[in-house]
Amino acid sequence: YRGEGQPFIAEYEVPVTKGLTILDGLIYIKENLDGSLSYRMSCRMGVCGSCGMFINGLPRLACHTQVEELNSRIIQVAPLPNFPTVKDLIPDLGPLFDKHKLVSPYIFRTDREEYDHPTREYRQGVEELEAYLQFSYCIKCGICLSACPTVATDEAFFGPPALAQAYRYIADTRDEGLNIRVEALDSQEGPWRCHFAGACSAACPKGVDPALGIQLLKKTIIGRRLGLGKLRPRATIVSPPEGVGPSPEVPKAPPPTVKRR
Ligand code: FES
Repeated sequence: YRGEGQPFIAEYEVPVTKGLTILDGLIYIKENLDGSLSYRMSCRMGVCGSCGMFINGLPRLACHTQVEELNSRIIQVAPLPNFPTVKDLIPDLGPLFDKHKLVSPYIFRTDREEYDHPTREYRQGVEELEAYLQFSYCIKCGICLSACPTVATDEAFFGPPALAQAYRYIADTRDEGLNIRVEALDSQEGPWRCHFAGACSAACPKGVDPALGIQLLKKTIIGRRLGLGKLRPRATIVSPPEGVGPSPEVPKAPPPTVKRR
């Protein structure tokens, strides 16, 4: 798609070498065969989230997908579904970030003075960190949103990235934004619209399990409705004793509920 007119398919032949990624192939095409081909990329190492594309029928990161692993001589690359297309392989990620903003994706504190001008540490134990760690690996690539069958039929649905990020902050013991997030989310287009297909978790290139985050979000909202009291402990603000550093224990992300492909 070139910004106007009908979408079309162009064919290119690319020499394959060991370790060649889809992104490498696109760079080869742009440099040698068609300078007008447009795609988005930056880090080339699965960190920036720029290169999400629909590759042989599944949403994936182009820089994180090797040609060899697809086991096919013909590779079809298209822009991410569930997003408007700007040009060629470039999706408009605006809908993702619009929904992301609605869930206040940051630590929300009521002690503004301490927050803005910190005097001490907000300390967390390993278990407290593990409660949200895997959700913090999200790189906002839009692949989970693209894989979601509910988003495909209802674009008003908040979608996996925003809901999982809402849970990421709600589960953080330093955060005090539970009420503002639940008020923003507890609607027909919020977590209740998720049918737990699990496609988001299967597609995530970073091993995040957004489907799990959404179910935990539902549980949190129900707990709040039932007035079950404090849903989690609060982080304590302490001044560490002289010479005491971070805990030597290494936190682990919890196991995923959905088998990865
Ligand atoms: Fe950054 Fe692929 S180029 S994730």
